[in-house]
Formats: sequence, structure tokens, C-alpha cells
Amino acid sequence: MAEYICLFSKDTLIIKPPKKSPLFSRTIALWFAMLCGVYLYGTCLKHPESFSRGECSLNPVRFFAIISMQRSGSGWFETLLNSHINVSSNGEIFSVIDRRNNVSNIIQTLERVYNLDWFTSASKNECSAAVGFKWMLNQGLMEHHREIVEYFNHRGISAIFLFRRNLLRRMVSVLANSYDRKAKLLNGTHKSHVHSEQEAAALSSYKPIINSTSLISDLKEVEMITARALENFNSTRRMVLYYEDLVTNRTKLKDVQEFLGLPLMELTSRQVKIHKGSLCDFVSNWDDVNKTLNGTEYERFLHADY
Ligand SMILES: *[C@@H]1O[C@H](CO)[C@@H](O)[C@H](O)[C@H]1NC(C)=O
Ligand SMILES: *[C@@H]1O[C@H](CO)[C@@H](O)[C@H](O)[C@H]1NC(C)=O
Ligand SMILES: *[C@@H]1O[C@H](CO)[C@@H](O)[C@H](O)[C@H]1NC(C)=O
Ligand SMILES: *[C@@H]1O[C@H](CO)[C@@H](O)[C@H](O)[C@H]1NC(C)=O
Ligand SMILES: *[C@@H]1O[C@H](CO)[C@@H](O)[C@H](O)[C@H]1NC(C)=O
Ligand SMILES: *[C@@H]1O[C@H](CO)[C@@H](O)[C@H](O)[C@H]1NC(C)=O
Ligand SMILES: *[C@@H]1O[C@H](CO)[C@@H](O)[C@H](O)[C@H]1NC(C)=O
Ligand SMILES: *[C@@H]1O[C@H](CO)[C@@H](O)[C@H](O)[C@H]1NC(C)=O
Repeated sequence: MAEYICLFSKDTLIIKPPKKSPLFSRTIALWFAMLCGVYLYGTCLKHPESFSRGECSLNPVRFFAIISMQRSGSGWFETLLNSHINVSSNGEIFSVIDRRNNVSNIIQTLERVYNLDWFTSASKNECSAAVGFKWMLNQGLMEHHREIVEYFNHRGISAIFLFRRNLLRRMVSVLANSYDRKAKLLNGTHKSHVHSEQEAAALSSYKPIINSTSLISDLKEVEMITARALENFNSTRRMVLYYEDLVTNRTKLKDVQEFLGLPLMELTSRQVKIHKGSLCDFVSNWDDVNKTLNGTEYERFLHADY
């Protein structure tokens, strides 16, 4: 365990040699390396055992990962979970590429989270009863699923899959979010989640064009990725949630808390939904989309409301 922490600390150090003579910079680098060595030695001695859980040291901690895809409500879901006094969900930690460029970096990052050595604004206190983070399928999870499943089963990590049923609405959200990355509609700031109706209205004022030629195959592909993820993780302790069910059925949040062994609480979020109401108001070429999906297995996506 100590070794993991050391390795991780070493990886997070950024060594940039100054642009002086090679000998000079080598000397500096050497000194730096020695200092780091001393520092690492110190930290290894100090916390091989993660941090003290104080009054809650006897309460069990459940480990989880929210496994999802972009624009599927996982940001909202995570704020709901984090409103629970005993939950620490640490955000999308694998959005940083260095943490997932190979499987050993992934495992080291996971070790840090589940040894309770990962500190973010979401980390609560010694009384967290469930600790985890949010992981997108395209962040190394599918690529390295074998090793990750092995790790999950070895450490007893529970997976909470969160998907969206209406993949057309998800597609609109993906396109709008991707547009806003450049357009920055909110006073020059890009936002993926908002907290007021005005902000939601500003973001949904942009109506994307959906490529109707590739629409069916694009939807099929997302379905396939989802199915493959569920199959790859079929030996893991898990529950599967759908965004639409969470919106319409608050009992689902009770299920989640039971799944995580938490005392039941009312969960809240300040986030406001961006695209509310009929999808036809949010797509430039709605007639095209309507025609393309009419009579197909995806026709239901045209009507559903969330
Ligand atoms: C993983 O990537 C890191 C750089 O981030 C590198 O130092 C390490 O050697 C790589 N490990 C393996 C097993 O490829
Ligand atoms: C939840 O947190 C509260 C406040 O920190 C603590 O008193 C309680 O023991 C915790 N419950 C569990 C199950 O850890
Ligand atoms: C943009 O900034 C103005 C002035 O600061 C503010 O009144 C307005 O609400 C902001 N608009 C959005 C969409 O955040
Ligand atoms: C729409 O999809 C088709 C088929 O994949 C592709 O050939 C075409 O370039 C796409 N059009 C746009 C505007 O991206
Ligand atoms: C999981 O999926 C694999 C591959 O499809 C299959 O061979 C295996 O039987 C499944 N295991 C369970 C527990 O469903
Ligand atoms: C709401 O969710 C609960 C628990 O998952 C389920 O038993 C119930 O049937 C759902 N209610 C509706 C109206 O779908
Ligand atoms: C939808 O398909 C039906 C036949 O399946 C057809 O009668 C109808 O005109 C189509 N509607 C549109 C908008 O294309
Ligand atoms: C699709 O187009 C048909 C024919 O114009 C229309 O009757 C129907 O309401 C449209 N469906 C949606 C969901 O807009």
C-alpha cells in the first residue's frame, strides 16, 4: 500500500529543468530528485495507512463508482449523492488524461480514492460511509475493463451505472454542450451545468442541427457501447439506473442509498435542467429528424419528455 502512495506522489511531481547549461540543469534536477526522495520517504513514513476516521472508525465504508456517459445526468446525480452527509463522491477524476494513460496509473488513482487519500471539495470527513467518484465509459474504463473489473471485485467496489433512455435528447445535449465550449453563451464562460432558469434558457437558445444521415447508426452505436459496458462489468456488484427514472420516481434515490448501505435522507440538488419541454423546440432540422426516426425503433425518442 505504501508503495502505491509513493509511486503516485512521484507521478504527480512535475520536473521542468530550467533552460540553462545542460550540466547546470542536470545538477538542479539531481538536487530536486534528492529533495523529492527525502520528501517521499517522509510522506511514506507518515501515512501508509490513509487517514484516521476518528469517531466513525468503526462504521463501514462502501466504495462505489458512478459509471456513465457524458450528458446523461450524472453531474446532477452526483450533486444529489453528495448532499448526503455520509457520501463523498469526488467528481470526474479521470477527466485528467495522465491519470488514465495506462492501467497502472488508473489503479494508482483508484487506490488513492479508496484508501481515502483523495481530497476534493466533495470529501466530507471521517464519517463518510460511501466514497467514490464519477467515471465516464470513454475515460479508459472500456479499454482496460478486464483489469478494472478485477480490481473492483478485489476491493469490493460497487458500480452504479447511470444511463439515459432517450438517446436523442442526450445527443441534443452533447451537441449543445460541445457548441458552448466554443461559443461560451453565458457571458463568455462555458458551463456544462447551470443553477438558474435564465442560464438554462440562454444555453438552450442554441438549436443544433442533427446529422440525419448518420442519426440511426449514431444512436445504435451508443446503445451498443452501453450494452458492452454492462456485459463487461457483469461480475461486479452493481445497480443500473436511468436518468428518466430518477427524474420521475424519487423511490430510485432510496434504492441507491440502500444499495450503498446509507441511512436514508432526502437528497437535493441546486442544478437546473437545461433542455426542458418538447425536443422539437431545441433542434434546427426537426422535420428531418422526425422523418428519419418515424417508423423506426427510435420513434419513441421523438415524444418522450425528459
Ligand atoms: C504509465 O505511464 C507513466 C507516465 O504517466 C509511466 O511513467 C509508466 O512507466 C507507465 N507504466 C506502464 C506500465 O506503462
Ligand atoms: C454520518 O455522518 C454523521 C455526521 O458526521 C455521523 O454522526 C454518522 O455516524 C455517520 N453515519 C455513518 C453510517 O457513517
Ligand atoms: C451576464 O452578466 C450580466 C451582468 O453582469 C448579468 O446581469 C446577467 O444575468 C448575466 N447573464 C447570464 C446568462 O449569466
Ligand atoms: C453526416 O453523416 C454522414 C454519414 O456518416 C457523413 O458522410 C457526413 O459528412 C455528415 N455530415 C456532416 C455535416 O457532418
Ligand atoms: C458475463 O458476460 C460474459 C461474456 O458475455 C459471459 O460469458 C458470462 O457468463 C457473464 N457472467 C454473468 C455472471 O452473467
Ligand atoms: C419507482 O421505483 C420503485 C423502486 O425502484 C419501483 O418499485 C416502482 O415501481 C417505481 N414506480 C413507478 C411508478 O415506476
Ligand atoms: C410516418 O410513417 C408513416 C408510415 O409508417 C407515414 O404514413 C407517415 O406519413 C410518416 N410521417 C412522417 C412525418 O414522415
Ligand atoms: C412528425 O411529423 C408529423 C407530420 O408532419 C407530425 O404530425 C408529428 O406531430 C411530428 N412529430 C413530432 C414529435 O414532432
